[in-house]
Amino acid sequence: MAAIGNDILKAARLLEQGKLVAIPTETVYGLAANALDTTAVAGIFRAKNRPTFDPLIVHTYSIAKTKEYVREFPMELEKLAKAYWPGPLTLLLPKKNVIPDLVTSGLDNVAVRIPNHSLTLELLEKLNFPLAAPSANPFGYISPTKPEHVNKQLGNEIDYILDGGNCEVGIESTIVGVEKGKVCVYRLGGLTIEQIEKVIGKVELRIISSDNPTVPGQLQSHYAPMKKIYIGNIDLLMGQYKNVCVLNFGRKKFNVPTFNLSENENLTEAAANLFTGLRALDECQAEIILCEYLPETGLGIAINDRLKRAAAEK
Ligand code: TXA
Ligand code: MG
Repeated sequence: MAAIGNDILKAARLLEQGKLVAIPTETVYGLAANALDTTAVAGIFRAKNRPTFDPLIVHTYSIAKTKEYVREFPMELEKLAKAYWPGPLTLLLPKKNVIPDLVTSGLDNVAVRIPNHSLTLELLEKLNFPLAAPSANPFGYISPTKPEHVNKQLGNEIDYILDGGNCEVGIESTIVGVEKGKVCVYRLGGLTIEQIEKVIGKVELRIISSDNPTVPGQLQSHYAPMKKIYIGNIDLLMGQYKNVCVLNFGRKKFNVPTFNLSENENLTEAAANLFTGLRALDECQAEIILCEYLPETGLGIAINDRLKRAAAEK
């Protein structure tokens, strides 16, 4: 198990030595290393058992700092950065040579974001390098939203977990880039399409899967528990399957183990609880997880995307 604490100086010292430290963000916990040190970055891929064709997000603490790592900052994306950074928004920007190819899996763009968590922002300001950090879970499994989640699965692989409590947003950042002059969203996440379009107008959705080579990480099966998940009408599914548990949304009661994402049908609350709920059900006695899609608005769209990938054939 890794040491857990809120000692920013200790975290900084370890990162300076090329070690791995789990960091809190408002979305999910990240598994961080010095983004400019190829050996340290290689350690991230090793610890997560992550294929090196799946690039990493680089975390910085200011727009000015970000500009040290990218060749240009398209106007639309800078507008988004000014409106929503620090926050659950990742931008794809043409990288400078200082960013190692391993970080971007050889792509010309680097994914960058400023996370909205005071401990991690303080840590980033102390370092003279940015932090590459994917979600701190074994590749393909559910992302961690509490320090205990990280310790349980990657505790033996990392040197320190910076404890910033529960992640407030609970699902990963929204990924946005520019293609042929058009702003595109590649991953739905904690920042909604409505919020993006309020600032820059209509955007295109390019949320696809493993067959979209420009977004190697958007694999069909992802965020997945070990158990099988079925999505549909829960009452009907309960007639079909035995030994089930339910990921619930709303006040309806079921006579099987249940985790409720939000009794009041609040999508923000549901997002914050999603990965904790999937983990809890994955650990209960039942063999199968049943759930329904949430309303397809606001954060519900990103939550449904996670449910679909969690249910996909591995
Ligand atoms: O909220 C988040 O984004 C969290 C916290 C820790 O910041 N991080 C996160 O990282 O979710 P990860 O590695 O689990 O997911 C990053 C996604 C992957 O799907 C990856 O393929 C995509 O971002 N990505 C990273 N760099 C990219 C690039 N240069 N071009 C296209 N997609 C990229
Ligand atoms: Mg991830």
